Amino acid sequence: MGKVVWITGASSGLGLHTARQLGMHGFDVIAGARSFGQGKAVEHCRSLPLDVTDEKSIDAFTQRALEMAGPPDILVNCAGMLILGACEQYGIGEIEQVMNTNFLGQVRMIQKVLPLMREKDGGKIVNFSSINGLLGIPFEGAYTASKHAIEGFSECLALEVKPYGIEVMLVEPGDHQSGSAAYRRHSGGITEASPYKAAFDIGTGVIAHDEANGSDPDRLGEKMAKVLKRRHLPKRLRVAKGDQRLAVVLHDVLPAWAFDRIIGSYYKKPKK
Ligand SMILES: NC(=O)c1ccc[n+]([C@@H]2O[C@H](COP(=O)([O-])OP(=O)(O)OC[C@H]3O[C@@H](n4cnc5c(N)ncnc54)[C@H](OP(=O)(O)O)[C@@H]3O)[C@@H](O)[C@H]2O)c1
Repeated sequence: MGKVVWITGASSGLGLHTARQLGMHGFDVIAGARSFGQGKAVEHCRSLPLDVTDEKSIDAFTQRALEMAGPPDILVNCAGMLILGACEQYGIGEIEQVMNTNFLGQVRMIQKVLPLMREKDGGKIVNFSSINGLLGIPFEGAYTASKHAIEGFSECLALEVKPYGIEVMLVEPGDHQSGSAAYRRHSGGITEASPYKAAFDIGTGVIAHDEANGSDPDRLGEKMAKVLKRRHLPKRLRVAKGDQRLAVVLHDVLPAWAFDRIIGSYYKKPKK
């Protein structure tokens, strides 16, 4: 059997496509997601229920996964969610939910596998960030904060675990066609009376359009399989179309006011 991979958020989207591709490429994949407790499964993988916000669920997943395949060679942290909303009007509970899933969920899994990886003198940890881990766009404040958090955490982690033969890679996807609407809620703060309502409707229309016309998630899964077969991981795997890659470069080289003007006007123009 190939290298053992634990992957979270594998019931939908990029996690599902990555898990399936890894399974097809001979990895021994243990796929986790909450809905796997309700009969869902992924081809070429073994699936187990997993809620990354719940320590007990993580403990049960770990115990079962260890029984099934032994300690993981690779952890892929993909579980994620998005609540679109205005920074002023997010409920604190909404921000907590996004941070708890996207950031703390990854941290919990990392802390769970590290002792296992240190014991076997090596491993690979792959954390899903986003282009939003590198720059902000309107109405994705909570999500963008969670992705910036995992960027910073992963950089620190990589330095700390290198002496134990453990490598860390950030995946930074641009828009992909995979997202399920169920994981893209609107904040309760956006009511008809919200001062942000008109801008929110246009901005989130652009976001939905870009995602619907985004890249093929299977291609990302294939790239992941190729990269994870390498002896060493790159620090970052950016999988995005040219305009989104360009946005990251412009964010880093332009004065902030100029970048804000470009990105602000992009999300003010409705797309057909
Ligand atoms: N799609 C894109 O365009 C895009 C772009 C950039 C980055 N990303 C990142 O890529 C990852 C996947 O996004 P996606 O849009 O492809 O996926 P998605 O279709 O939104 O699916 C989200 C996945 O996360 C799982 N999940 C949510 N909460 C969970 C929890 N508490 N515990 C365990 N699993 C949980 C869901 O499964 P259950 O409901 O079954 O638990 C599902 O499998 C995310 O980290 C996202 O931020 C996506």
